[in-house]
Amino acid sequence: MRETILITSALPYANGELHFGHIAGAYLPADCYARYKRLMGADVLYLCGSDEYGIAIALSAELAGRTPKQQVDLFHEINQKLFAKFGIAFDHYSRTTWPGHIPIVQEFFRELQTKGFIEERTEPHLYSEQEKRFLADRYCVGTCPKCGFTEARGDECPKCAASFEATDLKNPRSKMSGAPLTLRPSTHLYLRFDLFREKLSEWLTKKNWKENVLHLAMSYVQDLKARAITRDSEWGVPVPGMPDKVFYVWFDAPIGYVSAAQEWAEKTGDKERWKHYWLNPDAKLIHFIGKDNIPFHTLFFPAMLMGQSEPYKLPDEVPANEFLLFEGRKFSKSDHWTVDLESFFAKYSADQARYVLAANAPETGDADFGWRDFLLRCNGELLGKLGNFVHRVLTFAKTHCASRVPVQGVLEEKDRQFLQTIDTLTEAISLAYSSFHLRRAAQLVMEMAQTGNVYFDEKKPWIAAKRMRMLAETAGEALTEESVDASSLKTTIALSLFAICRLSLVASPILPASAQKIWEMLGFSTSIAQENWLAVCQNSLPIGQVLLEPTPLFRKIEPEEIEEEVSKLGSESRPT
Ligand code: 2FM
Ligand code: ZN
Repeated sequence: MRETILITSALPYANGELHFGHIAGAYLPADCYARYKRLMGADVLYLCGSDEYGIAIALSAELAGRTPKQQVDLFHEINQKLFAKFGIAFDHYSRTTWPGHIPIVQEFFRELQTKGFIEERTEPHLYSEQEKRFLADRYCVGTCPKCGFTEARGDECPKCAASFEATDLKNPRSKMSGAPLTLRPSTHLYLRFDLFREKLSEWLTKKNWKENVLHLAMSYVQDLKARAITRDSEWGVPVPGMPDKVFYVWFDAPIGYVSAAQEWAEKTGDKERWKHYWLNPDAKLIHFIGKDNIPFHTLFFPAMLMGQSEPYKLPDEVPANEFLLFEGRKFSKSDHWTVDLESFFAKYSADQARYVLAANAPETGDADFGWRDFLLRCNGELLGKLGNFVHRVLTFAKTHCASRVPVQGVLEEKDRQFLQTIDTLTEAISLAYSSFHLRRAAQLVMEMAQTGNVYFDEKKPWIAAKRMRMLAETAGEALTEESVDASSLKTTIALSLFAICRLSLVASPILPASAQKIWEMLGFSTSIAQENWLAVCQNSLPIGQVLLEPTPLFRKIEPEEIEEEVSKLGSESRPT
């Protein structure tokens, strides 16, 4: 049966630019997985979108002198363009401020309320007499109740790292105006996550997830408490019956995965199609996220889904990644410790970035992206192994086989072994993609390319070619019969082309543009991304198919370019 898979990547906040770390954590792995599954013939819906509500966005907009709407419009567009540059092929990229998001969030809420999962609590909250409004935590500053630091934030102290409620602050004041704050009773709604403890525990015990994901989920589940799902703000999804209040962003954002599917369905002209993914017991739901989002995707959102009457899917897999560091430190735009993506894409290709990020994917622990490693991998692996193999075989085929796929001759043991290795590697790559081991997949793709180089070197078809040339010179026009050398040469080329064809297939999820280029150089006019993995593996290259003139797949990067990038790190002079 054809697999149905709903794939999501964490909805990025639309108040800042994405960086390599985000891409390596939740987007590239999901994109490669989606591409692989499409090749396997699955019915894939890959969704994402901007997370646009919340106090943090309202605050950052205010600090930037923009309205929240202006802020999210700006970053929604910036990030959407960046995703396109990285070749992330979402089926739909939504945003939580699209009008259709509100009714579904409110519907989720009403269902939870009807079932008794919502509780009202009236407690003291910080109020600004001057601004005539309650202020959410992030808008409050004051003196740390623990160490006395006078610039503590509403939820934690940057000096002693204590975390607390904003109401615990001494001398609380407004972050924006500095005006003093007082305590006033305010009513908020709480979602009784504690009532889902048992159901969630039972559900989690059946999961065979990654160690880090399951461990964290299990350690949180016993401590689940009721959490406030409303905030005093104007920027968010309105809470029915509570003017001046909106839903907490972590209540509305994951429902964005549902509303994005609905928006996608509307666009396809079949409004009900989203149900084929979200309400289908045979579909699979896979959330790609960074490790900081684990509790929300393994506990809070599943609880919200469990509390609905409609049979919503619960996540089948949550392949959360660790963090990617940059040259040993956290990415930071303000410290100029980041890769400027505009200048990056002016010089380098998406496939170069994708390969290096895949090869360094932070799957089992925090990983690092560094400029010198980028140089080594691009020049030594992409260019030196993959590009080199494709180029030398096609160039040889052009000279000695008139740029056509030759008929292979009798196979020697070495040839048979080579074919066997290519098949074994194909299987291993398939397994790596399907089990979320992108790093391993990238490594095996390169191993396949290098296996090709070794085979070509060992077969030395240029010796057969030389002997043939000499023989032809002595025999002149009279030589018509197929010689042993001609047969061996053709076998080497035919088998190398076979390996290149496989490389195009197996590399396609990680290197979509290069794989397509290889596919076309092999003489195909279709799109490799739309082929079927098993069919490509079963079919041989059509004999006599005309090969295209080989053109370089990757450019050589000069060490000086990289040293220049390194020298700009941490300094203000980086291009903005
Ligand atoms: O951590 C983040 O960037 C959040 N915006 C992720 C939200 S994921 C989903 F639940 F919407
Ligand atoms: Zn403190």
